[in-house]
Amino acid sequence: MDAETTVVALTPELAPAVVRLCEGALDLPEDAAEAAAIVDTLWLRAAGDRPVLALGAYRATELVGVLIGSMPAADQRLGHVDLIAVAPEHRRRGAARALLAEAERRFAGLGATEVLLAGNPPFYAWPGIDVRYTPAVCAALALGYQQDRTAWNMTADLSSDDSPALRSTAAAEDRLAGQGVTVRAATPADLPALAELAGETFGGTWAAELAGSVGRPGAGCHLAERNGSVIAFAAYGSSRPSWFGPMGTAPAAEGSGIGGVLLRRCLRDQRAAGHESAQIGWVGPVPFYSRSAGARIERVFFLYRKQVGN
Ligand SMILES: CC(C)(COP(=O)(O)OP(=O)(O)OC[C@H]1O[C@@H](n2cnc3c(N)ncnc32)[C@H](O)[C@@H]1OP(=O)(O)O)[C@@H](O)C(=O)NCCC(=O)NCCS
Repeated sequence: MDAETTVVALTPELAPAVVRLCEGALDLPEDAAEAAAIVDTLWLRAAGDRPVLALGAYRATELVGVLIGSMPAADQRLGHVDLIAVAPEHRRRGAARALLAEAERRFAGLGATEVLLAGNPPFYAWPGIDVRYTPAVCAALALGYQQDRTAWNMTADLSSDDSPALRSTAAAEDRLAGQGVTVRAATPADLPALAELAGETFGGTWAAELAGSVGRPGAGCHLAERNGSVIAFAAYGSSRPSWFGPMGTAPAAEGSGIGGVLLRRCLRDQRAAGHESAQIGWVGPVPFYSRSAGARIERVFFLYRKQVGN
């Protein structure tokens, strides 16, 4: 780090400055466009649920770089770097190196033995580093991180009425109704049943992601029920407005076409909210999304880890 760079913890009233920095520093336009939602999710919303670290790199009085990190509520041996960004005109002068070193030191101080450059659901903006952020891939390797997994998104085109992602669900819904299955938008009153299905059948953080989808502006969830029981769900917007997921169908109801219907109902909402495309995040069953919505694999992410402490 050059002598003029200092790294300090940021307080939430600096969130607007962090958003402005990210709008200029996230080189992929789809990320810059959602900088405000990303900062809100990773920092302000996540802080209600788990330990969150927000660091700023300053040169004189100027904020030139930020890092947002977190520890899973259930496993504080891991520190996650959820976001790192440095203003273009301040790059290659050690700001990311200094931010990561401070994050590693603080995570180790809290008991972490590993730091991951990887998303930490239910609040995440990317599964890992998008391979097109090539400087970040180079920095990860230079700073001692090892690649351990790969993840990918699929893109559903919502730009035209003819898109397979916007194909009508009416006939399939009629067929399902004949089998006693109804589909509808979820409301907050459905959250306990949704959480039960998500938790019992799929585990992980899906129940929390559903809580971030139902009834929040820019987000939503559709469900299917039979005999008063929720048997499938699909959600969007929990972490980022243009992102779809998670979705799940109870094993006994698989294969009846419910998933495709719920998926397209969500994508229709996202189109109505003005999105020209949706990201199906951290996939999952590629053939299902290809068939049901004409989605294609597009964003690819490398996930990294590094041992810290002793
Ligand atoms: C990735 C990023 C944060 C790096 O910030 P930075 O302050 O320029 O990084 P540093 O100066 O600390 O670089 C540390 C090391 O990483 C490597 N590195 C960084 N940028 C590199 C590049 N463009 N090409 C090759 N190596 C690079 C180098 O080894 C560098 O050390 P050196 O300059 O002594 O050779 C910055 O490029 C950025 O904001 N990119 C866009 C946002 C992003 O990709 N975020 C990650 C996804 S969320």
